[in-house]
Amino acid sequence: MKRFERLGLAALHRLDPERAHGLSLLALRAGLAPHPGPVDLPRLHVTLAGMPLLNPVGLAAGYDKNAEAITPLSRAGFGFLEVGAATPLPQPGNDRPRLFRLTEDRAAINRFGFNNKGMQAIGAQLAARSRGPVPVGLNLGANKTSENRAGDFAKVLAHCGPHADFATVNVSSPNTEGLRNLQGRTMLAGLLTQVMEARLKLARPLPVFLKIAPDLSPGELEDIVEVALAAKVAGIIATNTTLSREGLKSANQGETGGLSGAPLFEKSTRVLARLSQLTHGLLPLIGVGGVGSAEQAYEKIRAGATAVQLYTAMVYQGISMVPKVATGLDALLARDGYASVSLAVGTGRSAWL
Ligand code: FNR
Repeated sequence: MKRFERLGLAALHRLDPERAHGLSLLALRAGLAPHPGPVDLPRLHVTLAGMPLLNPVGLAAGYDKNAEAITPLSRAGFGFLEVGAATPLPQPGNDRPRLFRLTEDRAAINRFGFNNKGMQAIGAQLAARSRGPVPVGLNLGANKTSENRAGDFAKVLAHCGPHADFATVNVSSPNTEGLRNLQGRTMLAGLLTQVMEARLKLARPLPVFLKIAPDLSPGELEDIVEVALAAKVAGIIATNTTLSREGLKSANQGETGGLSGAPLFEKSTRVLARLSQLTHGLLPLIGVGGVGSAEQAYEKIRAGATAVQLYTAMVYQGISMVPKVATGLDALLARDGYASVSLAVGTGRSAWL
């Protein structure tokens, strides 16, 4: 981390976390953050659900909720970005405070509840971007007060789909009451049918991923895989934040919300490995949860992920960690004799089962 970034992070950590988050986005847009460009190394080139990526390290949903920093984020080192969640109507989310640092644990708890400017504003941002080599996907959400939450996902996809490179059905946020019930077999099948119908109506049907929670029982996970395969989603993102509070030290551990960051690594990687086993390589998987180093990105890939995403580690390490994770991953693959990252996918899965 450069001195300027270290000082910036120290200053941000003295502020309320949500304010710090807003300022970090402003700094990015003002060009104050490092912008080396996407890491482009031949060994890291990979195709994810038909999308060519320069590298498999992506930004997880929830950092750029309103798609306002796509250009600088595309230059931060990432191979792909996910923005949102977007809901049909703008909504303020839950009352503040709703984002908490757990510094001793290198973690965060959030209960934002899909605060966002809505699909009109977010669709306009996506439409206005200049398309480059870094694909940009949209995380789809449902309005808190919607009478038809399942229909909301299809609505956002129909509106924003023409301007996105992929979309994610997010039924795994713990911060909208009842949302995760949509992960149940019957509800999920109905929801995915609607979403896939909206996808087919697009002039250019895009890959649709399903993002799941880490807190599912083995039986629920099996049901989800069956439904996801039947609906022909393009892949599964594992995982969202957890409700578990195991092994934490920080004072804020009692806050309500979803836990992200280092303590989520093992749990989310176990779910990923199990998914890899259940899908028999039929679906690409994206591993998310607690990735804070090249070694951890590599571990997710060896557990079965074609690509990874990260968010919370940036709060503690700064955005300059992103190219370090990607170039470090390249070095680990070279050390182990892999000519391409895709050859390492799933090679260490058994250790997580
Ligand atoms: C998130 N995450 C998230 N996920 C999602 O699908 N839609 C969303 O809107 C959000 N919003 C959100 C806000 C905040 C403040 C955080 C910390 C996280 C979850 C995120 O994409 C990711 O799945 C988890 O945070 C786990 O990854 P990390 O943070 O441990 O790398």
